[in-house]
Amino acid sequence: MPLIGLKESALKLILFGGKGGVGKTTCAASAGLFLAGNFKTLLLSTDPAHSISDSLGQHIGDAITEVKDVRNLSALEINAEKALSEFKIEYEEEIKKILDTSTNLDNEDIESVFSLSIPGLDEVMGFKTIMDLMDEGKFGKYIVDTAPTGHALRLLTMPQLLDDWVKMLAKLRWKYRYMIKTFSGKYAPDEADDFLLNMKKTVKKIESLLKDQSRCEFIAVTIPEDMAIQETTRLIHSLSEYGVKVKQLVINNVIEPRDCAFCQERRKEQEKYISQIRKKFSSLNTTLSFLRPREVKGVNALSAFAGQLAQGDPVNRMVA
Ligand SMILES: Nc1ncnc2c1ncn2[C@@H]1O[C@H](COP(=O)(O)OP(=O)(O)OP(=O)(O)O)[C@@H](O)[C@H]1O
Ligand SMILES: [Mg+2]
Repeated sequence: MPLIGLKESALKLILFGGKGGVGKTTCAASAGLFLAGNFKTLLLSTDPAHSISDSLGQHIGDAITEVKDVRNLSALEINAEKALSEFKIEYEEEIKKILDTSTNLDNEDIESVFSLSIPGLDEVMGFKTIMDLMDEGKFGKYIVDTAPTGHALRLLTMPQLLDDWVKMLAKLRWKYRYMIKTFSGKYAPDEADDFLLNMKKTVKKIESLLKDQSRCEFIAVTIPEDMAIQETTRLIHSLSEYGVKVKQLVINNVIEPRDCAFCQERRKEQEKYISQIRKKFSSLNTTLSFLRPREVKGVNALSAFAGQLAQGDPVNRMVA
């Protein structure tokens, strides 16, 4: 069966995720090419080891770049570290004000707390970059190539991480507000409070987007091998714990039935795993994608690959 529903106009954000090396970037780039036929599309990567450039055969980098020879497709390799430092520059005054008014830290201590690296906060800001771009609304579809499982899960748990961070700052701020109110009788919120309120709104916005199945979809990519299936199972379960429901799965690197003893042997083994996957995830739409004789690189090869994802495997073809 082909991948379905990608062209629904309400669906804005499509993330591809799975174990290392199973074909996430290839699927994401192909989906980007496929959707660019109908929508202004932005292909993004949140994987620190970006490979959209390699996949498309064109340098992309951390600025939105139009993909050569493809109408309506642009790409961006998000630099999470840079996103975090830009965030810190933008809100330096507010964050320092919270630390200054609510703690006993002196200027030197505040500087060192401010420059502390908080684990995961760079990824949080990477995701915030996606949200900001979606708010700008210049594209109809945002396709995300995520890093292997653990990283992708961290990305999706980021609303929680950001929430914890905002809560910590809000707690500090609350003590300060309480003191002011107790001694002067009233408290007028300032720009530091506005900042906290806006961050809280961002957390809520990201959370509701990720859980909204009509606007956001996470497509799992796997291969018909034991370890990959086990990791896919964990990924799908963890995602559902965060309220992200996976509806579709791509099984990549499937060997086409051919008249060759080696291929038949491998295919037989793969069939065992394919039926295991289908049994385990019977409610998911599974799309088979064949192993190609060559790497799937460059616009032409990716477009052919996209055709296969859109049409489904010939054995089980349905209308796209
Ligand atoms: N069906 C296929 N047939 C042949 N080659 C493929 C197929 N799918 C992917 N490839 C090739 O396999 C390699 C790995 O694919 P890809 O980079 O998409 O995987 P990934 O899951 O993004 O990897 P990583 O976890 O390292 O980011 C690439 O060289 C790609 O061209
Ligand atoms: Mg990749």
